[in-house]
Amino acid sequence: MWMRWNNPRGEVEFDRVEFGYVPGQPVLRSASFQVEPGEFVAIAGSSGSGKSTLLNWVPRFYDVTGGAVIVDGCDVRDLRLGALRKPIGFVGQDNY
Ligand SMILES: Nc1ncnc2c1ncn2[C@@H]1O[C@H](COP(=O)(O)OP(=O)(O)O)[C@@H](O)[C@H]1O
Ligand SMILES: [Mg+2]
Repeated sequence: MWMRWNNPRGEVEFDRVEFGYVPGQPVLRSASFQVEPGEFVAIAGSSGSGKSTLLNWVPRFYDVTGGAVIVDGCDVRDLRLGALRKPIGFVGQDNY
């Protein structure tokens, strides 16, 4: 049963997120922060520090291996993929 995501407000919460591309090699452990609707956030860090990885979890290009990414109070894994991605704008660093 999919959760509905009507009228997205844009709150994004990372709740004790854990992730690794390779099993047993975590890239991130227990990361938590919250972005309020309308808030602009810049994530700064050196190349390879995990900025893109972090963003990939919101539209579910990758799924976290622990914790949860929550939009407007709803775990992204509980939303139909189309409904989740529809209100998200994404400009990647590699353009085609
Ligand atoms: N698809 C992938 N498979 C395995 N490792 C990856 C993949 N994408 C990124 N990584 C690794 O994860 C780390 C974080 O990368 P990334 O999120 O792209 O950093 P940034 O965007 O901050 O430059 C790096 O060590 C990178 O090599
Ligand atoms: Mg990047």
